[in-house]
This record gives sequence, C-alpha cells and structure tokens, in this order.
Amino acid sequence: MLDDLFDAARAVRVKAHAPYSLFKVGAAIRGRSGRIYAGCNVENAAYPVGACAEGGAISLMVASGETTIAEVLVLGWTDANPHAPGLTTPCGGCRQRIREFATPATPIHIAGPEGLRRSFTLDELLPESFGPENLD
Ligand code: THU
Repeated sequence: MLDDLFDAARAVRVKAHAPYSLFKVGAAIRGRSGRIYAGCNVENAAYPVGACAEGGAISLMVASGETTIAEVLVLGWTDANPHAPGLTTPCGGCRQRIREFATPATPIHIAGPEGLRRSFTLDELLPESFGPENLD
C-alpha cells in the first residue's frame, strides 16, 4: 500500500543536493487525486537558505493543481550512518507547511532504507495546530 510512496521517495532521495549535511531526504506526497508528488532537500553554500524535501514535494503538488494531501512519506538518513535507528520526522516549518494542505488526521509515514519505521498523524506531530480554518 505504501510501496508506491516509498519507491517515489527513494527515487527522488538520490537526487538530493546535500553536500553539507550529507543527510539526503526524499519526501513523497499522495494527493487526494491519488497522484504522487516527490521532492528532495536542496542545500545551499549559504546554509540557512537550503530547502527541505517536504517543501519541494508540496510545491510540485500545488504547481500541478492539487491542494489536498492524503498522506506523506518521508525517507531520510545520513550517508555517514545509513543504519542509524532515528526517525526523519519533518522539521517544525515543514509540519506547518503540510498542515496548510492536510487535516489533523492526515498520516505521515517515516521510513528508513529498510522500509517503514513508524507512522504518525499530523496532529501527533503538530498538536493544537493553527490552520486555514482559524482565519475563517
Ligand atoms: N531535512 C529534510 O529535507 N526533511 C526533513 O524532514 C528533515 C531534514 C533536510 C534539511 C537538511 O538539508 C538536511 O535534511 C539536514 O537537516
């Protein structure tokens, strides 16, 4: 079921531009239509202006005309230690970027090279979140 998201994240992760952190990330989003949008992190010599994988995937989704996220899969590890057991959960900024196009119940799957490690809802990662409805 998650194989297509995992495959998309794995295929885009190898394209990540991460010469500074050596931490390559691939993110795959399934839109409500079923289409999959993938993005990788793109770092910069001016370190703070690098971009996360999730943001790239969201930009592609929106540019493709879709604005509802059904689920997200994030795949990431450092090349220095591919087998570290940690979870590459979205950074705080990306949790809010996902929130814009998702609901508190939206699943966010975290994977490592061997496959799925853990699944969260967005509400678990960003509780009591502020979203578009707050502005209504
Ligand atoms: N990174 C992502 O792209 N997504 C995440 O979920 C966590 C971190 C990137 C940012 C930076 O290029 C590198 O991973 C190390 O922080």
